[in-house]
Amino acid sequence: EMFQPIFDKPGMRPSTNYTRPTQINVSLTIHEILGVNEKTHFLITFVWVKLLWFNEFLVWDPVDFDGMERIALPVEFLWRPDFYFYEFIGPGHMGEDASPHVPYLYVNHNGVVTYVVPSKLVTSCHLDVFYFPFDTHTCTLTIGPYLSIVNDITMGHHSTPQELFLKSLEHIKESGEWELTDFDSELLSFLYQEIVNPDEWAMMIYTVKIRRRPTHYLVNLLIPSALLMLIEILSFFLPAHSTDRSIFKVTVLLGYTVFLLFVNDILPNNSGGTPLIGGYFLVCLVLMIVDLLESILISRIMHRSSFGTVRVSSWLRL
Ligand SMILES: *[C@@H]1O[C@H](CO)[C@@H](O)[C@H](O)[C@H]1NC(C)=O
Ligand SMILES: *[C@@H]1O[C@H](CO)[C@@H](O)[C@H](O)[C@H]1NC(C)=O
Repeated sequence: EMFQPIFDKPGMRPSTNYTRPTQINVSLTIHEILGVNEKTHFLITFVWVKLLWFNEFLVWDPVDFDGMERIALPVEFLWRPDFYFYEFIGPGHMGEDASPHVPYLYVNHNGVVTYVVPSKLVTSCHLDVFYFPFDTHTCTLTIGPYLSIVNDITMGHHSTPQELFLKSLEHIKESGEWELTDFDSELLSFLYQEIVNPDEWAMMIYTVKIRRRPTHYLVNLLIPSALLMLIEILSFFLPAHSTDRSIFKVTVLLGYTVFLLFVNDILPNNSGGTPLIGGYFLVCLVLMIVDLLESILISRIMHRSSFGTVRVSSWLRL
Protein backbone atom coordinates (compact mmCIF):
# COMPACT_ATOMS: atom_id res chain seq x y z
CA GLU A 1 0.00 0.00 0.00
CA MET A 2 2.63 2.39 1.13
CA PHE A 3 4.71 1.80 -2.05
CA GLN A 4 1.80 1.93 -4.50
CA PRO A 5 2.82 5.34 -5.94
CA ILE A 6 6.23 3.84 -6.81
CA PHE A 7 4.72 0.77 -8.47
CA ASP A 8 2.55 3.09 -10.55
CA LYS A 9 5.60 4.76 -12.06
CA PRO A 10 7.97 2.00 -13.20
CA GLY A 11 9.44 4.40 -15.75
CA MET A 12 10.97 6.66 -13.13
CA ARG A 13 14.56 6.11 -12.13
CA PRO A 14 14.50 5.39 -8.37
CA SER A 15 16.62 8.26 -7.18
CA THR A 16 15.57 10.93 -4.73
CA ASN A 17 17.93 13.37 -6.38
CA TYR A 18 17.96 13.26 -10.18
CA THR A 19 21.41 14.79 -10.44
CA ARG A 20 22.80 11.70 -8.75
CA PRO A 21 23.30 8.68 -11.04
CA THR A 22 22.09 5.20 -10.11
CA GLN A 23 24.92 2.72 -9.79
CA ILE A 24 24.22 -0.71 -11.24
CA ASN A 25 26.52 -3.45 -9.99
CA VAL A 26 26.87 -6.26 -12.48
CA SER A 27 28.16 -9.79 -12.38
CA LEU A 28 28.10 -12.14 -15.34
CA THR A 29 28.69 -15.87 -15.11
CA ILE A 30 28.91 -18.22 -18.05
CA HIS A 31 26.75 -21.28 -17.60
CA GLU A 32 27.48 -22.98 -20.88
CA ILE A 33 29.55 -22.45 -23.97
CA LEU A 34 27.20 -23.76 -26.63
CA GLY A 35 29.52 -23.37 -29.57
CA VAL A 36 31.09 -21.12 -32.12
CA ASN A 37 30.47 -20.60 -35.80
CA GLU A 38 33.75 -20.11 -37.62
CA LYS A 39 32.16 -19.10 -40.91
CA THR A 40 30.05 -16.27 -39.60
CA HIS A 41 32.26 -15.45 -36.60
CA PHE A 42 29.95 -15.83 -33.70
CA LEU A 43 29.97 -17.31 -30.24
CA ILE A 44 26.93 -18.84 -28.57
CA THR A 45 26.83 -18.82 -24.80
CA PHE A 46 24.31 -19.17 -22.05
CA VAL A 47 24.98 -16.58 -19.36
CA TRP A 48 23.42 -15.35 -16.16
CA VAL A 49 23.56 -11.63 -15.63
CA LYS A 50 23.01 -10.44 -12.09
CA LEU A 51 22.16 -6.77 -11.66
CA LEU A 52 21.98 -4.99 -8.33
CA TRP A 53 20.98 -1.41 -7.72
CA PHE A 54 19.60 0.78 -5.06
CA ASN A 55 15.96 1.79 -5.16
CA GLU A 56 15.91 4.75 -2.82
CA PHE A 57 12.12 4.68 -2.46
CA LEU A 58 11.79 1.04 -1.42
CA VAL A 59 13.28 1.19 2.04
CA TRP A 60 11.43 -0.18 5.04
CA ASP A 61 12.08 -1.33 8.55
CA PRO A 62 11.52 -5.11 8.85
CA VAL A 63 10.22 -4.61 12.41
CA ASP A 64 7.16 -2.80 11.04
CA PHE A 65 6.42 -5.63 8.59
CA ASP A 66 6.54 -8.72 10.83
CA GLY A 67 10.25 -9.09 10.21
CA MET A 68 9.89 -9.33 6.43
CA GLU A 69 13.34 -8.53 5.09
CA ARG A 70 12.85 -8.97 1.37
CA ILE A 71 10.04 -9.38 -1.08
CA ALA A 72 9.70 -10.71 -4.62
CA LEU A 73 7.91 -8.31 -6.92
CA PRO A 74 6.83 -8.56 -10.55
CA VAL A 75 9.44 -6.94 -12.76
CA GLU A 76 6.82 -4.74 -14.44
CA PHE A 77 6.22 -2.91 -11.14
CA LEU A 78 9.68 -1.43 -10.91
CA TRP A 79 12.23 0.51 -12.87
CA ARG A 80 14.91 -1.56 -14.56
CA PRO A 81 18.06 -0.44 -16.39
CA ASP A 82 17.97 -0.67 -20.20
CA PHE A 83 20.96 -2.98 -20.49
CA TYR A 84 22.04 -4.76 -23.65
CA PHE A 85 25.09 -6.51 -25.05
CA TYR A 86 27.16 -4.55 -27.55
CA GLU A 87 28.23 -7.68 -29.49
CA PHE A 88 24.72 -9.08 -29.58
CA ILE A 89 23.69 -10.34 -33.02
CA GLY A 90 21.16 -13.12 -32.51
CA PRO A 91 18.14 -14.25 -30.53
CA GLY A 92 18.43 -14.46 -26.80
CA HIS A 93 18.35 -10.81 -25.87
CA MET A 94 17.79 -10.22 -22.19
CA GLY A 95 14.45 -11.77 -21.32
CA GLU A 96 13.42 -12.38 -24.94
CA ASP A 97 13.05 -15.20 -27.44
CA ALA A 98 15.27 -18.12 -26.57
CA SER A 99 15.96 -16.91 -23.06
CA PRO A 100 13.71 -17.90 -20.18
CA HIS A 101 11.44 -15.12 -18.98
CA VAL A 102 12.13 -13.99 -15.44
CA PRO A 103 8.93 -12.58 -13.99
CA TYR A 104 10.16 -11.46 -10.57
CA LEU A 105 12.94 -9.56 -8.90
CA TYR A 106 13.91 -9.33 -5.26
CA VAL A 107 13.81 -6.17 -3.19
CA ASN A 108 15.66 -6.04 0.10
CA HIS A 109 14.43 -3.88 2.97
CA ASN A 110 17.46 -1.58 2.54
CA GLY A 111 16.36 -0.79 -1.01
CA VAL A 112 18.76 -3.09 -2.88
CA VAL A 113 17.05 -4.61 -5.90
CA THR A 114 18.43 -7.90 -7.26
CA TYR A 115 17.54 -8.85 -10.80
CA VAL A 116 18.95 -12.01 -12.35
CA VAL A 117 18.53 -12.53 -16.08
CA PRO A 118 19.53 -15.80 -17.77
CA SER A 119 20.18 -15.26 -21.48
CA LYS A 120 21.18 -17.30 -24.44
CA LEU A 121 23.52 -15.02 -26.31
CA VAL A 122 24.74 -15.06 -29.86
CA THR A 123 27.55 -12.55 -29.97
CA SER A 124 30.04 -11.60 -32.63
CA CYS A 125 33.63 -12.59 -32.04
CA HIS A 126 36.60 -12.72 -34.38
CA LEU A 127 37.67 -16.36 -34.71
CA ASP A 128 41.08 -17.27 -36.03
CA VAL A 129 41.15 -20.98 -36.93
CA PHE A 130 44.75 -21.19 -38.14
CA TYR A 131 45.75 -23.57 -35.35
CA PHE A 132 42.60 -25.74 -35.57
CA PRO A 133 41.99 -28.10 -33.73
CA PHE A 134 44.36 -26.58 -31.18
CA ASP A 135 42.82 -23.14 -31.39
CA THR A 136 42.03 -20.69 -28.62
CA HIS A 137 39.83 -17.65 -28.97
CA THR A 138 39.34 -14.45 -27.06
CA CYS A 139 35.85 -13.02 -27.18
CA THR A 140 34.35 -10.06 -25.42
CA LEU A 141 30.91 -9.61 -23.94
CA THR A 142 30.22 -5.95 -23.33
CA ILE A 143 27.20 -4.99 -21.29
CA GLY A 144 25.92 -1.51 -20.69
CA PRO A 145 22.87 0.76 -20.81
CA TYR A 146 21.43 1.35 -24.25
CA LEU A 147 20.37 4.96 -23.86
CA SER A 148 21.16 6.20 -20.38
CA ILE A 149 24.38 8.20 -20.15
CA VAL A 150 26.75 8.20 -17.18
CA ASN A 151 24.85 11.07 -15.56
CA ASP A 152 21.95 8.63 -15.11
CA ILE A 153 23.52 5.20 -14.84
CA THR A 154 26.98 4.23 -13.71
CA MET A 155 28.21 0.69 -13.30
CA GLY A 156 30.23 -1.28 -10.78
CA HIS A 157 31.53 -4.76 -10.12
CA HIS A 158 29.42 -7.02 -7.97
CA SER A 159 32.01 -9.80 -7.84
CA THR A 160 35.68 -9.91 -8.68
CA PRO A 161 36.68 -11.43 -12.05
CA GLN A 162 38.34 -14.29 -10.18
CA GLU A 163 35.10 -15.18 -8.38
CA LEU A 164 33.19 -15.06 -11.65
CA PHE A 165 35.74 -17.29 -13.35
CA LEU A 166 35.50 -19.93 -10.60
CA LYS A 167 31.70 -19.73 -10.58
CA SER A 168 31.57 -20.15 -14.36
CA LEU A 169 33.89 -23.15 -14.20
CA GLU A 170 31.52 -24.75 -11.70
CA HIS A 171 28.60 -24.39 -14.08
CA ILE A 172 30.16 -25.35 -17.39
CA LYS A 173 29.85 -29.04 -18.06
CA GLU A 174 33.15 -30.80 -18.53
CA SER A 175 32.04 -32.69 -21.61
CA GLY A 176 31.61 -29.79 -24.01
CA GLU A 177 33.86 -29.13 -26.95
CA TRP A 178 34.98 -25.83 -25.46
CA GLU A 179 36.89 -25.18 -22.32
CA LEU A 180 36.94 -21.85 -20.52
CA THR A 181 40.55 -20.91 -19.84
CA ASP A 182 40.27 -17.34 -18.63
CA PHE A 183 37.69 -14.79 -17.67
CA ASP A 184 38.22 -11.15 -16.94
CA SER A 185 36.12 -8.05 -16.52
CA GLU A 186 36.89 -4.43 -16.94
CA LEU A 187 34.87 -1.32 -16.25
CA LEU A 188 35.08 1.26 -19.00
CA SER A 189 33.14 4.12 -20.40
CA PHE A 190 32.31 4.72 -23.98
CA LEU A 191 32.61 8.28 -25.19
CA TYR A 192 30.65 9.26 -28.23
CA GLN A 193 32.51 12.13 -29.85
CA GLU A 194 29.97 14.70 -30.81
CA ILE A 195 31.13 18.28 -31.06
CA VAL A 196 28.17 19.90 -29.38
CA ASN A 197 27.74 17.73 -26.31
CA PRO A 198 29.83 14.58 -26.04
CA ASP A 199 27.93 11.85 -24.26
CA GLU A 200 29.44 9.09 -22.23
CA TRP A 201 28.08 5.65 -21.49
CA ALA A 202 29.24 3.27 -18.80
CA MET A 203 30.01 -0.25 -19.89
CA MET A 204 31.48 -3.43 -18.52
CA ILE A 205 33.66 -5.57 -20.76
CA TYR A 206 33.95 -9.27 -19.99
CA THR A 207 36.79 -11.01 -21.76
CA VAL A 208 36.24 -14.71 -22.32
CA LYS A 209 39.06 -17.01 -23.38
CA ILE A 210 38.08 -20.42 -24.69
CA ARG A 211 40.06 -23.38 -25.94
CA ARG A 212 38.90 -26.24 -28.12
CA ARG A 213 39.26 -29.78 -26.80
CA PRO A 214 41.11 -31.46 -29.68
CA THR A 215 40.55 -35.16 -28.88
CA HIS A 216 37.57 -35.58 -31.22
CA TYR A 217 39.52 -34.11 -34.13
CA LEU A 218 42.66 -36.08 -33.35
CA VAL A 219 40.69 -39.31 -33.52
CA ASN A 220 38.75 -38.37 -36.65
CA LEU A 221 41.31 -36.43 -38.64
CA LEU A 222 44.93 -36.89 -37.70
CA ILE A 223 44.98 -40.60 -36.82
CA PRO A 224 43.22 -41.86 -40.02
CA SER A 225 45.45 -39.64 -42.12
CA ALA A 226 48.58 -40.89 -40.35
CA LEU A 227 47.48 -44.52 -40.78
CA LEU A 228 46.90 -44.10 -44.51
CA MET A 229 50.32 -42.52 -44.84
CA LEU A 230 51.81 -45.46 -42.94
CA ILE A 231 50.18 -47.97 -45.30
CA GLU A 232 51.48 -45.95 -48.22
CA ILE A 233 55.03 -46.09 -46.89
CA LEU A 234 54.83 -49.78 -45.97
CA SER A 235 53.69 -50.59 -49.51
CA PHE A 236 57.31 -50.18 -50.55
CA PHE A 237 57.78 -53.66 -49.14
CA LEU A 238 55.64 -55.02 -51.96
CA PRO A 239 57.73 -56.53 -54.77
CA ALA A 240 58.67 -53.70 -57.07
CA HIS A 241 58.72 -55.58 -60.35
CA SER A 242 55.05 -56.49 -60.22
CA THR A 243 52.46 -53.89 -61.09
CA ASP A 244 50.68 -54.70 -57.81
CA ARG A 245 52.55 -51.96 -56.04
CA SER A 246 51.35 -49.16 -58.28
CA ILE A 247 47.81 -50.49 -58.17
CA PHE A 248 47.97 -50.69 -54.41
CA LYS A 249 49.22 -47.13 -54.19
CA VAL A 250 46.44 -45.90 -56.45
CA THR A 251 43.94 -47.60 -54.14
CA VAL A 252 45.39 -45.89 -51.08
CA LEU A 253 45.39 -42.59 -52.93
CA LEU A 254 41.72 -43.08 -53.76
CA GLY A 255 41.01 -43.87 -50.12
CA TYR A 256 42.79 -40.69 -49.09
CA THR A 257 40.80 -38.61 -51.56
CA VAL A 258 37.54 -39.94 -50.12
CA PHE A 259 38.84 -39.16 -46.63
CA LEU A 260 39.60 -35.59 -47.72
CA LEU A 261 36.02 -35.20 -48.91
CA PHE A 262 34.79 -35.88 -45.39
CA VAL A 263 37.47 -33.68 -43.88
CA ASN A 264 36.27 -30.77 -45.98
CA ASP A 265 33.01 -30.79 -44.07
CA ILE A 266 34.69 -30.86 -40.68
CA LEU A 267 37.40 -28.28 -41.26
CA PRO A 268 36.38 -24.74 -40.39
CA ASN A 269 36.99 -22.29 -43.17
CA ASN A 270 36.45 -18.58 -43.04
CA SER A 271 37.72 -15.35 -44.46
CA GLY A 272 40.54 -15.47 -41.94
CA GLY A 273 42.14 -18.30 -43.96
CA THR A 274 42.19 -22.05 -43.87
CA PRO A 275 43.68 -23.85 -40.90
CA LEU A 276 47.22 -25.13 -40.89
CA ILE A 277 45.98 -28.71 -40.72
CA GLY A 278 44.43 -28.26 -44.19
CA GLY A 279 47.92 -27.60 -45.49
CA TYR A 280 49.14 -30.74 -43.78
CA PHE A 281 46.51 -32.85 -45.57
CA LEU A 282 47.48 -31.28 -48.87
CA VAL A 283 51.15 -32.09 -48.28
CA CYS A 284 50.18 -35.71 -47.49
CA LEU A 285 48.23 -35.91 -50.73
CA VAL A 286 51.13 -34.47 -52.75
CA LEU A 287 53.53 -36.94 -51.11
CA MET A 288 51.25 -39.82 -52.06
CA ILE A 289 51.12 -38.67 -55.68
CA VAL A 290 54.90 -38.24 -55.82
CA ASP A 291 55.21 -41.68 -54.30
CA LEU A 292 52.96 -43.14 -57.00
CA LEU A 293 54.93 -41.43 -59.78
CA GLU A 294 58.10 -42.80 -58.30
CA SER A 295 56.69 -46.34 -58.27
CA ILE A 296 55.70 -46.00 -61.90
CA LEU A 297 59.20 -44.82 -62.73
CA ILE A 298 60.81 -47.67 -60.80
CA SER A 299 58.71 -50.36 -62.47
CA ARG A 300 59.43 -48.79 -65.85
CA ILE A 301 63.19 -48.92 -65.21
CA MET A 302 63.05 -52.48 -63.90
CA HIS A 303 60.93 -53.58 -66.79
CA ARG A 304 63.48 -52.23 -69.29
CA SER A 305 66.51 -53.53 -67.43
CA SER A 306 65.02 -57.05 -67.22
CA PHE A 307 65.25 -57.25 -71.02
CA GLY A 308 68.87 -56.23 -70.76
CA THR A 309 68.55 -53.64 -73.51
CA VAL A 310 69.58 -50.74 -71.34
CA ARG A 311 72.47 -50.65 -68.92
CA VAL A 312 71.27 -49.15 -65.68
CA SER A 313 73.97 -47.06 -64.13
CA SER A 314 74.82 -47.98 -60.56
CA TRP A 315 73.58 -44.67 -59.01
CA LEU A 316 70.14 -45.08 -60.61
CA ARG A 317 69.96 -48.68 -59.44
CA LEU A 318 70.61 -47.39 -55.95
C1 LIG B 1 21.42 16.61 -5.39
O1 LIG B 1 22.77 16.16 -5.43
C2 LIG B 1 23.71 17.17 -5.78
C3 LIG B 1 25.06 16.52 -5.89
O2 LIG B 1 25.06 15.17 -5.67
C4 LIG B 1 23.69 18.27 -4.73
O3 LIG B 1 24.59 19.30 -5.12
C5 LIG B 1 22.28 18.82 -4.63
O4 LIG B 1 22.24 19.76 -3.57
C6 LIG B 1 21.28 17.71 -4.35
N1 LIG B 1 19.93 18.24 -4.36
C7 LIG B 1 19.08 18.02 -3.43
C8 LIG B 1 17.72 18.63 -3.61
O5 LIG B 1 19.36 17.33 -2.44
C1 LIG C 1 27.84 -1.57 -5.65
O1 LIG C 1 29.22 -1.67 -5.38
C2 LIG C 1 29.73 -0.63 -4.59
C3 LIG C 1 31.20 -0.86 -4.40
O2 LIG C 1 31.79 -1.43 -5.50
C4 LIG C 1 29.03 -0.56 -3.25
O3 LIG C 1 29.49 0.55 -2.51
C5 LIG C 1 27.53 -0.44 -3.46
O4 LIG C 1 26.86 -0.51 -2.22
C6 LIG C 1 27.04 -1.54 -4.37
N1 LIG C 1 25.63 -1.30 -4.63
C7 LIG C 1 24.71 -2.27 -4.52
C8 LIG C 1 23.34 -1.89 -4.83
O5 LIG C 1 25.01 -3.41 -4.18
